[in-house]
Amino acid sequence: MSNETIPNLESYDDDSLAKAFSALENLAKDDASALGAEDFRLRWLGRKQGLLNDVSSRYLKAAPPAFKKSVGERFKVLKELVEGLLESASGAGPSDAALAAEAIDITLPGTRRLIGAEHPITKTLNEIVNVFAALGYSVGVGPEVETDFYNFESMNFPPGHPARDTQDTLVVANQERRSQRDRLLLRTHTSPVQMRTMEQQPPPVRIVIPGKVHRNDAQDATHSPIFHQVEGLCVDTNITFSDLKGTLDHAMKALFGSSVKTRFFPSFFPFTEPSADVQISCIFCGGKGCRKCKQSGWIELLGCGMVDPAVFAFAAEKQPAYDPKKISGFAFGMGVERIAMMKYGISEIGQFYAGDMRFLGQFA
Ligand code: PHE
Repeated sequence: MSNETIPNLESYDDDSLAKAFSALENLAKDDASALGAEDFRLRWLGRKQGLLNDVSSRYLKAAPPAFKKSVGERFKVLKELVEGLLESASGAGPSDAALAAEAIDITLPGTRRLIGAEHPITKTLNEIVNVFAALGYSVGVGPEVETDFYNFESMNFPPGHPARDTQDTLVVANQERRSQRDRLLLRTHTSPVQMRTMEQQPPPVRIVIPGKVHRNDAQDATHSPIFHQVEGLCVDTNITFSDLKGTLDHAMKALFGSSVKTRFFPSFFPFTEPSADVQISCIFCGGKGCRKCKQSGWIELLGCGMVDPAVFAFAAEKQPAYDPKKISGFAFGMGVERIAMMKYGISEIGQFYAGDMRFLGQFA
C-alpha cells in the first residue's frame, strides 16, 4: 500500500522535495478527516507499517549525506503535522477561537424555570375533599357527559317535570333515536354520581364527589357555564338530619375558621326531602352586617337534605339493600368557585379561567 501512496522522489532538489512533501501533507489532511482517530494513528504512526516509517526509510535514510539535512527538516514538519492532526482527531479539544465563540458568561443569571402551583380551584376543591376525607369519606368521580337517567330521572326529576327547568341543560345533539333515559347531556350537577355509587356498592356509603359541571347559563361576575361542585352522600342505618347538621357545621368551620356559625333554611331539591340551604355567618363582618352579606350577617353557601325515598327506590333496582324502611341518608352539594371566591376575596369568577399569571401567581 505504502509504495503506491508515497510518491517516488525524482531527485533531492528543493522542487522535488517540496512537491513530494506537499503531496504527503495533503494526503495526511485528507486521511485525518476521512478516518477515525485510531485508524489515522495506525496508518500514519503505526510502528511497523505506518506511512511515516516508510517515508523515513525511503526518503530520509536513503538520502545521500548532502541532502539529509533538507529532507530531515521537511520530514520533521510532516511529522508535526501528522501529530497535530491526530491530537485534534482524538478530541484533544477545539481551537481557542472555537472556544471563545462558544464561551458563556457564567456571571449572568440563568433561565429560570417557573415552578408550577395548584390552581386556586384545584386547591379549594382538594381542601373541601380533605375535610371530608378526615371524617372517613372516600372520593368518587363520574362522567361529565351523562345520561338523562342519571342526571335527572334517577335523581327524581321525572321527564317533563318543571324541576328540570331549574338547571338549564346543554344536551348532545342528534339523540332522537335513543330513549329519553339514554340521551346524553353535559351533567348539570355532580348528583348523578350519587346514583352511580349506590348502584356499585350497598350501604353504608360515605363519599365525596368533586367534579366539573355544565349549565347553559350566561357568564356574569358570579356565574360561569362550566364550574365545579363537590357532592357528598352518606347512607347508613339511623342517619338523621342532626347528623347532616353536625357534619356540615364541622365542615364549614374547618373551611372558614372555627368562629363561623351555620344555619339551615327550608329549601327544595327533587332528590332530598326535607331539603335545606345552608348559610354561614358572614366571614367578612363576622355577622354584624356589611355590603358583602347585604347587611344580613349571613351568606348562603350550599344545598343539602335527607335523601328522598324515591332516590333510594332507583338505587334498590340494582342494590336491594337501599330499602328506605331500613336505611336513611343525607346528601349535600356545594360550588367550588363560590367557596374559593369567598375564601380568597375574588369578585370575578372569570378570573379563574382567564389563565392570567398575575392572578394565578398569587396562589402559588
Ligand atoms: N345538586 C344540587 C345543585 O346542583 C346541590 C345539592 C346536592 C343539593 C345534594 C342537595 C343535595 O344545585
